[in-house]
Amino acid sequence: MMNAHYEPLLDEHEKLTIQELRELQLQRLKASLKHAYENSAPYKAKFNDAGVHPDDLQSLADLAKFPFTTKADLRGAYPFGMFAVPTENVARIHASSGTTGQPTVVGYTKGDIKTWAGVVARSIRAAGGRPGMKVHVAYGYGLFTGGLGAHYGAEELGCTVIPMSGGQTEKQVQLILDFKPEIIMVTPSYMLSILDEFKRRGIDPKTSSLKIGIFGAEPWTDAMRSEIETAFDIDAVDIYGLSEVMGPGVANECVETKDGLTIWEDHFYPEIIHPDTGEVLPDGELGELVFTSLTKEAMPVIRYRTRDLTRLLPGTARNMRRMDRISGRSDDMMIIRGVNVFPTQIEEIILSIPALTPHYQLVLTKPDRMDQLTVLVEARIGTSTADAEAGVKKLKERIKTLIGISTTVTLAEHETITRSTGKAARIIDKRNQ
Ligand code: DLL
Repeated sequence: MMNAHYEPLLDEHEKLTIQELRELQLQRLKASLKHAYENSAPYKAKFNDAGVHPDDLQSLADLAKFPFTTKADLRGAYPFGMFAVPTENVARIHASSGTTGQPTVVGYTKGDIKTWAGVVARSIRAAGGRPGMKVHVAYGYGLFTGGLGAHYGAEELGCTVIPMSGGQTEKQVQLILDFKPEIIMVTPSYMLSILDEFKRRGIDPKTSSLKIGIFGAEPWTDAMRSEIETAFDIDAVDIYGLSEVMGPGVANECVETKDGLTIWEDHFYPEIIHPDTGEVLPDGELGELVFTSLTKEAMPVIRYRTRDLTRLLPGTARNMRRMDRISGRSDDMMIIRGVNVFPTQIEEIILSIPALTPHYQLVLTKPDRMDQLTVLVEARIGTSTADAEAGVKKLKERIKTLIGISTTVTLAEHETITRSTGKAARIIDKRNQ
Protein backbone atom coordinates (compact mmCIF):
# COMPACT_ATOMS: atom_id res chain seq x y z
CA MET A 1 0.00 0.00 0.00
CA MET A 2 1.33 3.35 -0.94
CA ASN A 3 -0.63 5.46 1.51
CA ALA A 4 -0.02 8.23 -0.94
CA HIS A 5 -1.13 11.69 0.05
CA TYR A 6 -3.00 12.95 -2.94
CA GLU A 7 -3.97 16.56 -2.91
CA PRO A 8 -7.70 16.44 -3.58
CA LEU A 9 -8.54 18.75 -6.46
CA LEU A 10 -12.22 19.65 -6.22
CA ASP A 11 -14.62 21.01 -8.80
CA GLU A 12 -17.27 23.65 -8.04
CA HIS A 13 -19.98 21.22 -6.96
CA GLU A 14 -17.64 19.23 -4.75
CA LYS A 15 -16.95 22.44 -2.87
CA LEU A 16 -20.61 23.29 -2.14
CA THR A 17 -21.67 23.51 1.49
CA ILE A 18 -24.32 21.00 2.54
CA GLN A 19 -26.96 23.71 2.45
CA GLU A 20 -25.96 24.86 -1.03
CA LEU A 21 -26.00 21.26 -2.18
CA ARG A 22 -29.53 20.69 -0.81
CA GLU A 23 -30.74 23.82 -2.59
CA LEU A 24 -29.21 22.66 -5.86
CA GLN A 25 -30.76 19.22 -5.40
CA LEU A 26 -34.21 20.63 -4.72
CA GLN A 27 -34.10 22.82 -7.79
CA ARG A 28 -32.84 19.95 -9.95
CA LEU A 29 -35.28 17.46 -8.46
CA LYS A 30 -38.24 19.67 -9.33
CA ALA A 31 -37.01 19.93 -12.91
CA SER A 32 -36.35 16.19 -13.18
CA LEU A 33 -39.83 15.23 -11.92
CA LYS A 34 -41.41 17.69 -14.31
CA HIS A 35 -39.33 16.39 -17.21
CA ALA A 36 -40.26 12.75 -16.45
CA TYR A 37 -43.95 13.59 -16.03
CA GLU A 38 -44.28 15.68 -19.14
CA ASN A 39 -42.15 13.64 -21.51
CA SER A 40 -42.31 9.99 -20.47
CA ALA A 41 -45.74 8.33 -20.73
CA PRO A 42 -45.01 5.58 -18.13
CA TYR A 43 -44.08 8.23 -15.56
CA LYS A 44 -47.15 10.32 -16.28
CA ALA A 45 -49.33 7.21 -15.81
CA LYS A 46 -47.50 6.19 -12.63
CA PHE A 47 -47.75 9.65 -11.05
CA ASN A 48 -51.42 9.93 -12.00
CA ASP A 49 -52.16 6.47 -10.55
CA ALA A 50 -50.48 7.48 -7.31
CA GLY A 51 -52.34 10.80 -7.29
CA VAL A 52 -49.19 12.90 -7.28
CA HIS A 53 -48.02 15.74 -9.49
CA PRO A 54 -44.50 17.25 -9.78
CA ASP A 55 -45.88 20.42 -8.12
CA ASP A 56 -46.42 18.37 -4.93
CA LEU A 57 -42.68 18.42 -4.34
CA GLN A 58 -41.80 21.43 -2.22
CA SER A 59 -39.00 19.89 -0.19
CA LEU A 60 -36.56 17.01 -0.71
CA ALA A 61 -38.52 14.95 1.83
CA ASP A 62 -41.61 15.24 -0.40
CA LEU A 63 -39.95 12.82 -2.78
CA ALA A 64 -41.28 10.03 -0.52
CA LYS A 65 -44.78 10.76 -1.91
CA PHE A 66 -43.75 9.64 -5.38
CA PRO A 67 -43.97 6.05 -6.64
CA PHE A 68 -40.95 3.79 -7.05
CA THR A 69 -39.59 2.62 -10.37
CA THR A 70 -38.45 -0.99 -10.68
CA LYS A 71 -36.60 -3.14 -13.16
CA ALA A 72 -39.99 -4.60 -14.12
CA ASP A 73 -41.15 -1.10 -15.19
CA LEU A 74 -38.14 -0.80 -17.46
CA ARG A 75 -38.65 -4.28 -18.89
CA GLY A 76 -42.31 -3.53 -19.46
CA ALA A 77 -41.36 -0.49 -21.54
CA TYR A 78 -38.85 -2.48 -23.66
CA PRO A 79 -37.08 -1.21 -25.64
CA PHE A 80 -37.50 2.58 -25.64
CA GLY A 81 -40.76 3.21 -23.80
CA MET A 82 -39.15 5.02 -20.86
CA PHE A 83 -37.32 7.55 -23.02
CA ALA A 84 -38.29 11.16 -22.40
CA VAL A 85 -36.79 12.52 -25.61
CA PRO A 86 -37.41 11.57 -29.26
CA THR A 87 -35.17 8.66 -30.28
CA GLU A 88 -33.39 10.87 -32.81
CA ASN A 89 -32.02 12.83 -29.84
CA VAL A 90 -30.64 9.68 -28.23
CA ALA A 91 -26.92 9.52 -28.89
CA ARG A 92 -26.23 6.13 -27.32
CA ILE A 93 -27.97 2.97 -26.14
CA HIS A 94 -26.69 0.57 -23.49
CA ALA A 95 -28.35 -2.51 -22.06
CA SER A 96 -27.82 -4.76 -19.10
CA SER A 97 -28.34 -8.42 -19.78
CA GLY A 98 -29.43 -9.58 -16.34
CA THR A 99 -29.63 -13.27 -15.66
CA THR A 100 -33.05 -13.93 -17.13
CA GLY A 101 -35.39 -12.59 -19.74
CA GLN A 102 -35.42 -9.31 -21.53
CA PRO A 103 -32.49 -6.93 -21.25
CA THR A 104 -33.02 -3.53 -19.66
CA VAL A 105 -32.41 -0.82 -22.22
CA VAL A 106 -31.13 2.66 -21.35
CA GLY A 107 -30.53 5.72 -23.53
CA TYR A 108 -28.35 8.82 -23.35
CA THR A 109 -28.49 12.19 -25.08
CA LYS A 110 -25.24 13.94 -25.97
CA GLY A 111 -25.77 15.98 -22.84
CA ASP A 112 -26.15 12.80 -20.75
CA ILE A 113 -22.91 11.41 -22.19
CA LYS A 114 -21.18 14.63 -21.16
CA THR A 115 -22.63 14.46 -17.63
CA TRP A 116 -21.62 10.82 -17.36
CA ALA A 117 -18.08 11.51 -18.58
CA GLY A 118 -17.96 14.30 -16.00
CA VAL A 119 -18.89 12.09 -13.04
CA VAL A 120 -16.49 9.35 -14.14
CA ALA A 121 -13.70 11.95 -14.57
CA ARG A 122 -14.49 13.14 -11.05
CA SER A 123 -14.42 9.53 -9.84
CA ILE A 124 -10.99 8.91 -11.36
CA ARG A 125 -9.75 12.17 -9.84
CA ALA A 126 -11.16 11.16 -6.43
CA ALA A 127 -9.20 7.92 -6.79
CA GLY A 128 -6.00 9.94 -7.25
CA GLY A 129 -5.96 9.99 -11.06
CA ARG A 130 -4.64 13.10 -12.77
CA PRO A 131 -4.54 14.42 -16.35
CA GLY A 132 -1.66 12.90 -18.26
CA MET A 133 -1.86 9.52 -16.57
CA LYS A 134 -2.52 6.42 -18.64
CA VAL A 135 -5.68 4.46 -17.85
CA HIS A 136 -5.95 0.79 -18.80
CA VAL A 137 -9.66 0.00 -19.14
CA ALA A 138 -10.35 -3.72 -18.69
CA TYR A 139 -14.09 -3.39 -18.10
CA GLY A 140 -15.95 -4.91 -21.04
CA TYR A 141 -16.84 -2.61 -23.94
CA GLY A 142 -20.19 -2.97 -25.66
CA LEU A 143 -23.72 -2.85 -24.32
CA PHE A 144 -22.31 -3.11 -20.76
CA THR A 145 -21.71 0.40 -19.43
CA GLY A 146 -18.36 -0.40 -17.77
CA GLY A 147 -15.94 -0.06 -20.70
CA LEU A 148 -17.34 2.96 -22.52
CA GLY A 149 -18.30 4.67 -19.24
CA ALA A 150 -14.74 4.43 -17.91
CA HIS A 151 -13.35 5.35 -21.33
CA TYR A 152 -15.20 8.63 -21.76
CA GLY A 153 -14.49 9.62 -18.16
CA ALA A 154 -10.76 9.00 -18.48
CA GLU A 155 -10.66 11.02 -21.71
CA GLU A 156 -12.65 13.82 -20.08
CA LEU A 157 -10.10 14.04 -17.26
CA GLY A 158 -7.31 14.35 -19.81
CA CYS A 159 -5.86 10.88 -19.39
CA THR A 160 -4.52 8.59 -22.11
CA VAL A 161 -6.96 5.71 -22.49
CA ILE A 162 -5.97 2.15 -23.32
CA PRO A 163 -9.32 0.58 -24.35
CA MET A 164 -8.34 -3.04 -23.73
CA SER A 165 -11.82 -4.32 -22.71
CA GLY A 166 -12.22 -7.62 -20.80
CA GLY A 167 -10.65 -10.99 -21.57
CA GLN A 168 -7.37 -12.04 -23.23
CA THR A 169 -5.60 -12.06 -19.90
CA GLU A 170 -2.13 -12.71 -21.32
CA LYS A 171 -2.48 -9.66 -23.56
CA GLN A 172 -3.75 -7.58 -20.63
CA VAL A 173 -0.51 -8.26 -18.78
CA GLN A 174 1.64 -7.69 -21.86
CA LEU A 175 0.04 -4.30 -22.49
CA ILE A 176 0.39 -3.29 -18.84
CA LEU A 177 4.11 -4.14 -19.08
CA ASP A 178 4.59 -2.38 -22.43
CA PHE A 179 2.35 0.71 -22.13
CA LYS A 180 2.98 1.29 -18.42
CA PRO A 181 -0.41 2.65 -17.28
CA GLU A 182 -0.64 4.22 -13.82
CA ILE A 183 -4.34 3.36 -13.47
CA ILE A 184 -6.37 0.22 -14.11
CA MET A 185 -10.18 0.08 -14.17
CA VAL A 186 -11.53 -3.46 -13.95
CA THR A 187 -13.74 -5.69 -11.83
CA PRO A 188 -11.94 -6.83 -8.66
CA SER A 189 -12.45 -10.48 -9.59
CA TYR A 190 -10.84 -9.99 -13.00
CA MET A 191 -7.96 -8.16 -11.31
CA LEU A 192 -7.28 -11.45 -9.52
CA SER A 193 -7.02 -13.23 -12.87
CA ILE A 194 -4.57 -10.56 -14.03
CA LEU A 195 -2.62 -11.06 -10.81
CA ASP A 196 -2.41 -14.81 -11.48
CA GLU A 197 -1.08 -14.12 -14.96
CA PHE A 198 1.67 -11.89 -13.56
CA LYS A 199 2.65 -14.71 -11.21
CA ARG A 200 2.47 -17.33 -13.98
CA ARG A 201 4.94 -15.26 -15.97
CA GLY A 202 7.23 -14.96 -12.96
CA ILE A 203 6.86 -11.17 -12.83
CA ASP A 204 6.48 -9.47 -9.46
CA PRO A 205 3.27 -7.41 -9.81
CA LYS A 206 4.73 -4.85 -7.40
CA THR A 207 7.22 -3.88 -10.10
CA SER A 208 4.44 -2.90 -12.55
CA SER A 209 3.71 0.74 -13.39
CA LEU A 210 0.26 0.57 -11.77
CA LYS A 211 -0.41 2.95 -8.90
CA ILE A 212 -4.20 3.06 -8.69
CA GLY A 213 -6.96 0.50 -9.24
CA ILE A 214 -10.60 1.56 -9.62
CA PHE A 215 -12.64 -1.54 -8.99
CA GLY A 216 -16.38 -2.11 -9.10
CA ALA A 217 -19.38 -3.58 -10.95
CA GLU A 218 -19.64 -6.34 -8.34
CA PRO A 219 -19.55 -6.66 -4.56
CA TRP A 220 -16.11 -6.98 -2.96
CA THR A 221 -14.67 -6.63 0.52
CA ASP A 222 -12.01 -4.72 2.43
CA ALA A 223 -10.19 -8.05 2.74
CA MET A 224 -10.08 -8.23 -1.06
CA ARG A 225 -8.84 -4.62 -1.14
CA SER A 226 -5.88 -5.56 1.09
CA GLU A 227 -5.17 -8.63 -1.03
CA ILE A 228 -4.98 -6.58 -4.25
CA GLU A 229 -3.24 -3.54 -2.73
CA THR A 230 -0.54 -5.69 -1.18
CA ALA A 231 0.04 -7.83 -4.26
CA PHE A 232 0.39 -4.85 -6.64
CA ASP A 233 1.49 -2.14 -4.20
CA ILE A 234 -1.32 0.13 -5.40
CA ASP A 235 -4.22 2.09 -3.94
CA ALA A 236 -7.48 0.26 -4.63
CA VAL A 237 -10.77 2.17 -4.49
CA ASP A 238 -14.40 1.24 -5.05
CA ILE A 239 -16.53 2.57 -7.93
CA TYR A 240 -20.28 2.02 -8.03
CA GLY A 241 -22.98 2.49 -10.60
CA LEU A 242 -25.75 0.79 -12.52
CA SER A 243 -26.91 1.18 -16.08
CA GLU A 244 -30.47 2.16 -15.14
CA VAL A 245 -29.16 5.19 -13.26
CA MET A 246 -26.20 5.97 -15.57
CA GLY A 247 -23.40 3.39 -15.45
CA PRO A 248 -20.14 3.52 -13.49
CA GLY A 249 -19.51 6.79 -11.63
CA VAL A 250 -22.70 7.20 -9.59
CA ALA A 251 -20.44 7.00 -6.51
CA ASN A 252 -16.72 6.55 -5.95
CA GLU A 253 -14.42 6.16 -3.03
CA CYS A 254 -11.97 8.97 -2.27
CA VAL A 255 -8.41 7.70 -2.02
CA GLU A 256 -7.52 9.94 0.92
CA THR A 257 -10.09 8.27 3.20
CA LYS A 258 -11.03 4.91 1.61
CA ASP A 259 -14.10 4.85 3.83
CA GLY A 260 -16.97 4.07 1.50
CA LEU A 261 -18.16 5.69 -1.70
CA THR A 262 -18.97 9.39 -2.05
CA ILE A 263 -22.24 9.67 -3.94
CA TRP A 264 -22.14 12.33 -6.65
CA GLU A 265 -25.23 13.87 -5.12
CA ASP A 266 -25.41 16.80 -7.50
CA HIS A 267 -26.59 14.31 -10.17
CA PHE A 268 -28.04 11.36 -8.25
CA TYR A 269 -30.32 11.76 -5.23
CA PRO A 270 -30.07 8.76 -2.87
CA GLU A 271 -32.60 7.32 -0.43
CA ILE A 272 -32.51 4.18 1.69
CA ILE A 273 -35.77 2.34 2.09
CA HIS A 274 -36.99 -0.68 3.99
CA PRO A 275 -36.99 -3.38 1.29
CA ASP A 276 -40.35 -4.82 2.41
CA THR A 277 -42.38 -1.76 3.39
CA GLY A 278 -40.81 0.86 1.11
CA GLU A 279 -40.59 3.25 4.07
CA VAL A 280 -37.71 5.78 3.86
CA LEU A 281 -35.10 5.01 6.52
CA PRO A 282 -32.90 7.59 8.24
CA ASP A 283 -29.24 7.94 7.23
CA GLY A 284 -27.09 5.32 8.92
CA GLU A 285 -29.64 2.52 8.64
CA LEU A 286 -29.13 -0.47 6.39
CA GLY A 287 -31.67 -0.92 3.62
CA GLU A 288 -32.25 -0.84 -0.13
CA LEU A 289 -30.63 1.95 -2.10
CA VAL A 290 -32.97 4.04 -4.26
CA PHE A 291 -31.84 6.68 -6.76
CA THR A 292 -33.53 9.58 -8.49
CA SER A 293 -31.64 11.18 -11.36
CA LEU A 294 -31.39 14.97 -11.11
CA THR A 295 -30.00 15.88 -14.52
CA LYS A 296 -30.66 13.00 -16.92
CA GLU A 297 -32.37 13.90 -20.17
CA ALA A 298 -32.97 10.79 -22.29
CA MET A 299 -34.12 8.52 -19.49
CA PRO A 300 -34.78 10.16 -16.15
CA VAL A 301 -35.28 7.67 -13.32
CA ILE A 302 -37.50 8.52 -10.38
CA ARG A 303 -36.97 6.54 -7.17
CA TYR A 304 -35.34 3.60 -8.94
CA ARG A 305 -35.04 0.58 -6.65
CA THR A 306 -31.52 -0.78 -7.10
CA ARG A 307 -31.96 -3.90 -4.90
CA ASP A 308 -28.49 -3.10 -3.55
CA LEU A 309 -28.18 -3.08 0.21
CA THR A 310 -26.16 -0.40 1.98
CA ARG A 311 -26.34 2.58 4.38
CA LEU A 312 -25.99 6.32 3.81
CA LEU A 313 -23.22 7.97 5.82
CA PRO A 314 -22.22 11.61 6.34
CA GLY A 315 -19.54 13.03 4.05
CA THR A 316 -15.88 12.94 5.09
CA ALA A 317 -13.54 13.71 2.20
CA ARG A 318 -16.38 15.67 0.54
CA ASN A 319 -19.59 17.28 1.79
CA MET A 320 -21.61 14.87 -0.31
CA ARG A 321 -22.85 11.81 1.55
CA ARG A 322 -21.19 8.46 1.35
CA MET A 323 -22.62 4.98 1.00
CA ASP A 324 -21.09 1.97 2.66
CA ARG A 325 -19.69 -0.78 0.48
CA ILE A 326 -22.62 -2.72 -0.98
CA SER A 327 -23.05 -5.72 1.32
CA GLY A 328 -24.92 -7.51 -1.44
CA ARG A 329 -27.87 -7.45 -3.79
CA SER A 330 -31.13 -8.67 -2.37
CA ASP A 331 -31.13 -11.11 -5.33
CA ASP A 332 -27.84 -12.62 -4.14
CA MET A 333 -28.96 -13.20 -0.59
CA MET A 334 -28.88 -16.89 0.25
CA ILE A 335 -31.13 -18.16 3.00
CA ILE A 336 -29.48 -21.18 4.55
CA ARG A 337 -31.67 -22.81 7.16
CA GLY A 338 -33.22 -19.49 8.04
CA VAL A 339 -29.95 -17.52 8.14
CA ASN A 340 -29.40 -14.75 5.58
CA VAL A 341 -25.98 -14.99 3.97
CA PHE A 342 -24.22 -12.85 1.36
CA PRO A 343 -21.22 -14.02 -0.67
CA THR A 344 -19.16 -11.10 0.68
CA GLN A 345 -19.43 -12.53 4.21
CA ILE A 346 -17.86 -15.77 3.02
CA GLU A 347 -15.22 -13.86 1.02
CA GLU A 348 -14.13 -11.97 4.12
CA ILE A 349 -13.63 -15.21 6.03
CA ILE A 350 -11.79 -17.00 3.20
CA LEU A 351 -9.35 -14.11 2.95
CA SER A 352 -8.66 -14.23 6.68
CA ILE A 353 -7.07 -17.67 6.17
CA PRO A 354 -3.57 -17.42 4.66
CA ALA A 355 -3.60 -20.93 3.15
CA LEU A 356 -6.60 -20.09 0.91
CA THR A 357 -6.88 -18.06 -2.31
CA PRO A 358 -9.57 -15.48 -3.07
CA HIS A 359 -10.89 -17.75 -5.83
CA TYR A 360 -14.14 -19.22 -4.58
CA GLN A 361 -17.60 -20.31 -5.62
CA LEU A 362 -20.70 -21.03 -3.60
CA VAL A 363 -22.77 -24.01 -4.69
CA LEU A 364 -26.35 -24.27 -3.48
CA THR A 365 -28.08 -27.64 -3.45
CA LYS A 366 -31.25 -28.93 -1.86
CA PRO A 367 -30.87 -32.52 -0.69
CA ASP A 368 -33.70 -33.59 1.65
CA ARG A 369 -35.56 -30.32 1.02
CA MET A 370 -33.02 -28.37 3.05
CA ASP A 371 -30.78 -25.75 1.43
CA GLN A 372 -27.16 -26.79 1.59
CA LEU A 373 -24.17 -24.55 0.88
CA THR A 374 -20.88 -25.88 -0.40
CA VAL A 375 -17.91 -23.52 -0.53
CA LEU A 376 -15.44 -24.38 -3.28
CA VAL A 377 -12.07 -22.81 -2.69
CA GLU A 378 -8.48 -23.24 -3.88
CA ALA A 379 -5.37 -23.33 -1.69
CA ARG A 380 -2.49 -20.97 -2.45
CA ILE A 381 0.18 -22.46 -4.68
CA GLY A 382 3.03 -23.82 -2.56
CA THR A 383 0.81 -24.58 0.44
CA SER A 384 1.39 -28.08 1.88
CA THR A 385 -1.51 -30.53 1.86
CA ALA A 386 -1.61 -30.44 5.65
CA ASP A 387 -1.82 -26.63 5.73
CA ALA A 388 -4.48 -26.59 3.01
CA GLU A 389 -6.56 -29.12 4.94
CA ALA A 390 -6.14 -27.14 8.15
CA GLY A 391 -7.28 -24.03 6.21
CA VAL A 392 -10.41 -25.81 5.01
CA LYS A 393 -11.21 -26.92 8.54
CA LYS A 394 -10.70 -23.39 9.85
CA LEU A 395 -12.96 -21.96 7.14
CA LYS A 396 -15.77 -24.34 8.05
CA GLU A 397 -15.39 -23.49 11.74
CA ARG A 398 -15.26 -19.73 11.20
CA ILE A 399 -18.35 -19.78 8.96
CA LYS A 400 -20.15 -21.67 11.70
CA THR A 401 -19.03 -19.28 14.45
CA LEU A 402 -19.30 -15.98 12.58
CA ILE A 403 -22.33 -16.57 10.34
CA GLY A 404 -23.99 -19.43 12.19
CA ILE A 405 -24.43 -21.94 9.38
CA SER A 406 -23.00 -25.37 8.68
CA THR A 407 -21.37 -25.71 5.28
CA THR A 408 -19.38 -28.20 3.31
CA VAL A 409 -16.02 -26.82 2.24
CA THR A 410 -14.37 -28.48 -0.73
CA LEU A 411 -10.80 -27.85 -1.73
CA ALA A 412 -10.64 -27.49 -5.50
CA GLU A 413 -7.52 -28.29 -7.52
CA HIS A 414 -5.38 -25.30 -8.49
CA GLU A 415 -6.95 -23.22 -11.26
CA THR A 416 -10.08 -25.32 -11.57
CA ILE A 417 -12.51 -22.71 -10.27
CA THR A 418 -13.72 -20.73 -13.28
CA ARG A 419 -11.83 -17.47 -13.51
CA SER A 420 -13.71 -14.24 -14.04
CA THR A 421 -13.15 -11.90 -16.99
CA GLY A 422 -15.82 -9.46 -15.81
CA LYS A 423 -18.46 -9.87 -13.13
CA ALA A 424 -17.72 -13.05 -11.20
CA ALA A 425 -20.45 -15.66 -10.85
CA ARG A 426 -20.07 -16.47 -7.16
CA ILE A 427 -23.26 -18.47 -6.69
CA ILE A 428 -23.99 -21.69 -8.58
CA ASP A 429 -27.57 -22.57 -7.82
CA LYS A 430 -28.28 -26.26 -8.35
CA ARG A 431 -31.37 -26.40 -6.16
CA ASN A 432 -33.79 -26.97 -9.01
CA GLN A 433 -31.78 -29.58 -10.83
O1 DLL B 1 -22.00 -2.74 -13.26
C1 DLL B 1 -21.86 -0.41 -13.86
C2 DLL B 1 -20.44 -0.38 -13.42
C3 DLL B 1 -19.43 -0.67 -14.33
C4 DLL B 1 -20.10 -0.03 -12.12
C5 DLL B 1 -18.11 -0.60 -13.92
C6 DLL B 1 -18.80 0.04 -11.72
C7 DLL B 1 -17.80 -0.24 -12.61
P1 DLL B 1 -24.82 -2.95 -14.28
O2 DLL B 1 -24.24 -3.99 -15.18
O3 DLL B 1 -26.12 -2.36 -14.62
O4 DLL B 1 -23.84 -1.73 -14.19
O5 DLL B 1 -24.87 -3.59 -12.84
C8 DLL B 1 -25.23 -2.82 -11.74
O6 DLL B 1 -23.79 -4.07 -10.25
O7 DLL B 1 -26.84 -2.68 -9.06
C9 DLL B 1 -24.76 -3.60 -8.17
O8 DLL B 1 -25.53 -4.72 -7.80
C10 DLL B 1 -23.50 -4.07 -8.87
N1 DLL B 1 -22.39 -3.14 -8.58
C11 DLL B 1 -21.90 -2.15 -9.36
N2 DLL B 1 -20.87 -1.54 -8.75
C12 DLL B 1 -20.71 -2.15 -7.54
C13 DLL B 1 -19.82 -1.99 -6.44
C14 DLL B 1 -22.53 -1.76 -13.72
N3 DLL B 1 -18.84 -1.08 -6.45
C15 DLL B 1 -25.13 -3.62 -10.47
N4 DLL B 1 -19.99 -2.80 -5.37
C16 DLL B 1 -25.46 -2.80 -9.25
C17 DLL B 1 -20.97 -3.73 -5.34
C18 DLL B 1 -21.69 -3.17 -7.44
N5 DLL B 1 -21.81 -3.94 -6.35
